Amino acid sequence: METIYSATKPTGKLTLGNYLGAMKNWKEMQKDNSCIFAVADLHSLTIDIDKKTLTDNIYKQFATFLAMGLDHEKSIIYCQSHVKEHAELAWIMNCNTNFGEASRMTQFKDHKAKDKVVSVGLFAYPMLMAGDILLYNATVVPVGVDQMQHIEICRDIATRFNSKYGDTFILPKGVVPKVGAKIMGLVDPTRKMAKSENNENNVIYIEDDDQTIRRKFKRAVTDSLARIKYCDEQPGVSNLLVIYSRINGISIAEAEKHFEGKNYNDLKSEVAECVIKEIGPVRDKMNELLKDKKYLEELMRIGAERASVIARKTLRKVYKRVGLVGIY
Ligand code: TYM
Repeated sequence: METIYSATKPTGKLTLGNYLGAMKNWKEMQKDNSCIFAVADLHSLTIDIDKKTLTDNIYKQFATFLAMGLDHEKSIIYCQSHVKEHAELAWIMNCNTNFGEASRMTQFKDHKAKDKVVSVGLFAYPMLMAGDILLYNATVVPVGVDQMQHIEICRDIATRFNSKYGDTFILPKGVVPKVGAKIMGLVDPTRKMAKSENNENNVIYIEDDDQTIRRKFKRAVTDSLARIKYCDEQPGVSNLLVIYSRINGISIAEAEKHFEGKNYNDLKSEVAECVIKEIGPVRDKMNELLKDKKYLEELMRIGAERASVIARKTLRKVYKRVGLVGIY
């Protein structure tokens, strides 16, 4: 049995990319493992975000976790900011990371290239994330491929810490799905489908209604080759095949076979329908759950209490290892 840890950050509305790249795996892994899933709200503060939007996103993401079938009794589901040890371990992580290695993080470099203002928090993002994983002795971290670099730096920090202070942390393994580790945009399939996207048509949000999902897939970019193949020259068609394969749990070759003799309209409408079937019920349940914020807060409190028990133990051990004086 593995200890699974993963999270999403509430900087925007959850996308089909988040769902297929990471969250669908969480649901599958939950069956046979000990799992901890978080809304990484502290990570959201690394960018400039409107406070009402942030609050709404936190409730929505927490509700989505429950709506998609994560079991709050079996797994620990909580918000990062409710467990103060995250901020504390992040400091220890910061002090055990070299400026140079943190500067090489692609996500930070991308933001630095395009954002007007870049916070120190954004620079420290990977160290906060490393602390998230290490606090719970996670062995497996299911993510999309864009997060693999952050898991690598987490392993590097843990390895360095262990060799300097003695064995403390377990080295986690990043796991991505075989198909769907990077879902691309619908109108620009050369770019990742992202929460931060400006063009709404490039993204399917978990909260999109059925008609919106159909409309967006109808507008999805294909090409003039008139064949349904997974290949570099056909990024739009390939992305649709990936979505179809991931949702139906089949290989790309099987998906290609399924669409043999069919045209792009068939492809788009079949993909739209399978997406609706998969995420429609999640959206409806999420909307239902959002009507009772008190219930969500109660589950957040229970999740935070359970997470804190583990986090507190790890942090005490870490403080002792680095030479701080424990008085409790
Ligand atoms: P976030 O919210 O940006 O992404 C959440 C998860 O969704 C995956 N993902 C995708 N997968 C496939 N295709 C896409 N287009 C796509 N877009 C996003 C991401 O890889 C991620 O797995 N840093 C994390 C949040 C976090 C975290 C952690 C994750 C904070 N602490 C500890 C794991 C462990 C993030 O970027 O979330």
